[in-house]
Amino acid sequence: MSVEQKVGQIIQADIGSVTPRDVREYHLGSVLNGGNSGPGGNDLAPARDWLALADAFYAASMESTPAIPIMWGTDAVHGHSNIVGATLFPHNVGLGAARDPGLIERIGRITAIEIRVTGQEWTFAPTVTVPQDYRWGRAYEGYSSDPALVASYVGSMIRGLQGPPSTAPLLAGPHVAASTKHFLADGATVDGKDQGDATVSELELRLVHGAPYIPAMENGVATVMTSFSSWQGAKISGNKGLVTDILKDRMNFGGFVVTDWNAHGQVAGCSNASCPVAANAGIDMFMAPDSWRALYASTLTQVKDGTIPMARLDDAVLRVLRVKQRLGLFDAGKPSARAYSGRYELLGAPGHRAVAREAVRKSLVLLKNTGVLPLRPQAHILVAGDGADDIARQSGGWTLSWQGTGLDNSNFPGATSLWRGIKQNVAAAGGSAELAPDGDYKKRPDAAIVVFGETPYAEFQGDIPSLQLRPELRRPFATMRKLKAAGIPVVAVMITGRPLFVNEALNEADAFVTAWLPGSEGGGVADLLFARKNGSAAFDFQGRLPTAWPATAGHDGPTLFPFGYGLTYADGPQPWKMLSQDSQVADDGSGGGVYFDKGRAAASWSLTVSEADGGDPLRVTTVPATGLSGRATVTAVDHTVQESARQFVIAAGPDGAAVEINAQNAVDLSRETNGDVMLLATLRLDAAPSAPVSMSVRCDGADCGRPLHLPELAALPLGQWRVLGVPLKCFAAAGADTTRITAPFRVSTDGSLNISLSRVALGSGMEADVIAKCEPD
Ligand code: BGC
Ligand code: BGC
Repeated sequence: MSVEQKVGQIIQADIGSVTPRDVREYHLGSVLNGGNSGPGGNDLAPARDWLALADAFYAASMESTPAIPIMWGTDAVHGHSNIVGATLFPHNVGLGAARDPGLIERIGRITAIEIRVTGQEWTFAPTVTVPQDYRWGRAYEGYSSDPALVASYVGSMIRGLQGPPSTAPLLAGPHVAASTKHFLADGATVDGKDQGDATVSELELRLVHGAPYIPAMENGVATVMTSFSSWQGAKISGNKGLVTDILKDRMNFGGFVVTDWNAHGQVAGCSNASCPVAANAGIDMFMAPDSWRALYASTLTQVKDGTIPMARLDDAVLRVLRVKQRLGLFDAGKPSARAYSGRYELLGAPGHRAVAREAVRKSLVLLKNTGVLPLRPQAHILVAGDGADDIARQSGGWTLSWQGTGLDNSNFPGATSLWRGIKQNVAAAGGSAELAPDGDYKKRPDAAIVVFGETPYAEFQGDIPSLQLRPELRRPFATMRKLKAAGIPVVAVMITGRPLFVNEALNEADAFVTAWLPGSEGGGVADLLFARKNGSAAFDFQGRLPTAWPATAGHDGPTLFPFGYGLTYADGPQPWKMLSQDSQVADDGSGGGVYFDKGRAAASWSLTVSEADGGDPLRVTTVPATGLSGRATVTAVDHTVQESARQFVIAAGPDGAAVEINAQNAVDLSRETNGDVMLLATLRLDAAPSAPVSMSVRCDGADCGRPLHLPELAALPLGQWRVLGVPLKCFAAAGADTTRITAPFRVSTDGSLNISLSRVALGSGMEADVIAKCEPD
């Protein structure tokens, strides 16, 4: 192999930023699809498009001499979860509750088969984190806070995905390569901050966070992904002691080590475009989604000038090739010619869904039952709560899109919402069911099931300051109270990635079930809630808490239910002692990443209208308001609800005008920028602007970066509400320092402007109607 071919082999690009032609030209060893990437830029692309793209990348990789087949990695973290129609298993926190390693192995096997249908051969799973602070937005990706419980699952999941360690070649059977992540101590960061710093001792590092890596090695995991996070102040991806000395030398890991998404760029002295430190620390493959081209060039230079020893490069390449050899990639032929490929009927196959439904049943944890459960299915059942008929919500993050947002039930063919599962169950027994999210029933029910809880999130977007449910997600508690007051027994079902302080719901309801993030098979919940026709329970609860449940919203507060707690029907009804409803923490009420909502700036943010140079600023507190010497007016207009938006009518003036949302203190949006997060503005163009409109951000109170051209805004249909998405990356590319943002939103023009604004927040492209191209002015 030439040195160019070797360097290419250790670089992985994202399918959203690379073409088959690039793969051939740069000899890239691997591609991935990040959470927001899909064939042709379509996250929801049909399964056959994924397979066709796999063939295209493979063909390109085989055009070099020597021909080295490419390997495609995907986040199949709860089933083949990027693919429409695939079986979605409960997220790991729910599987941790099930205490069933045999089930885990079956889930791994099914996931591998469904991956093979669309032509990939590698999953970035299982996550073997041991979360110690559930304020962390990734806690649900971990099985448990208990290292022994996590460790008891790891071997099963790896055997399910890869087969027993002796299996070779993997692709001859229903297998893929696995990856244990995120090495090491991703679940130990201070305050549960994603990508943060773990300050734990070496002993704790080994005994708690290292524990799952022992069964991972014993079961021959093919790859290990390093964590974005640090240990004692130094990023893991540059830590030679941990990656080479411990993992490879002491633990005898023979596979390859891949970094996380541009994580190398966070290592001291590195950027996304260059990081010899990581290669020298023992990284064998760089996940360089959009930075691969620059990284390839710098790495090649660094090998040529000896910064990265040739022996190190050879070792990395050898490790990558060894995994490819073990997969049988060299003899497997193109993806569509392999076993299972193109057998689309296997995606969400009935037998696969049955296992997912079993997993749901086994993961449910009963925290309270004063005797209302099991319900009689011959009754009239009210299903209420905002989460009852929402498959995206019950599936959580890492579902079709990165954040699991921007989806509705039509994106989940073959799946069953909790509501539909309940309806089917009672209908089969001769009962009836009624769906009324706000609890306003048409026919008086014999009992009500109220489904509430968290909405989807992934990674740092899910970090929270305390163990509270956001205020607007607590509204179903009032529904429970209303139903109780009417004498109707209430069963609360909570959809959540983590235990939260919900004493109010626990007090209000007669029974309380934690469903975690059950995935596509909502019928598994009904299986447990209803008795058979003869009154006996159809199934008993077997789920037990995978981590302690808090009595207050403080992370270090007292425990309400210990690790391992969970009632069963065999226990019979249990008396209930009312709990304190004092969370013991200040109610932050903050929707992180929301700057402006329903016409109002969020706490600590202001809305201003000013001249382009910042002169003559009008800080809008009450409306109507007039500014810029009378040429700008701001009034309230209606969007989703009355007066939930602000309209800006600004006449052209010599000094231009800018509408801006700003704050005194800067926020750091660098992780969001790396993570493909967008600024989403919900707005309405009320008249065509008379001159070009641009958008920019401000850093530390001053302009930063070149303004972006916004032809998309000027082209919006007049008088219609649209969500405009602007990738944060665009601002960074235009020169803004996204670590110090004081104004995330600024629209300016030299001409007239007539727009209405209802919301400005961070989010994903899935939620945008129009996505701005990044053209600097
Ligand atoms: C996540 C990983 C994931 C990777 C690829 C990263 O941001 O931390 O868990 O495998 O992206 O999507
Ligand atoms: C990607 C994810 C990745 C994340 C990193 C997103 O844009 O889609 O796969 O995990 O960025 O923060």
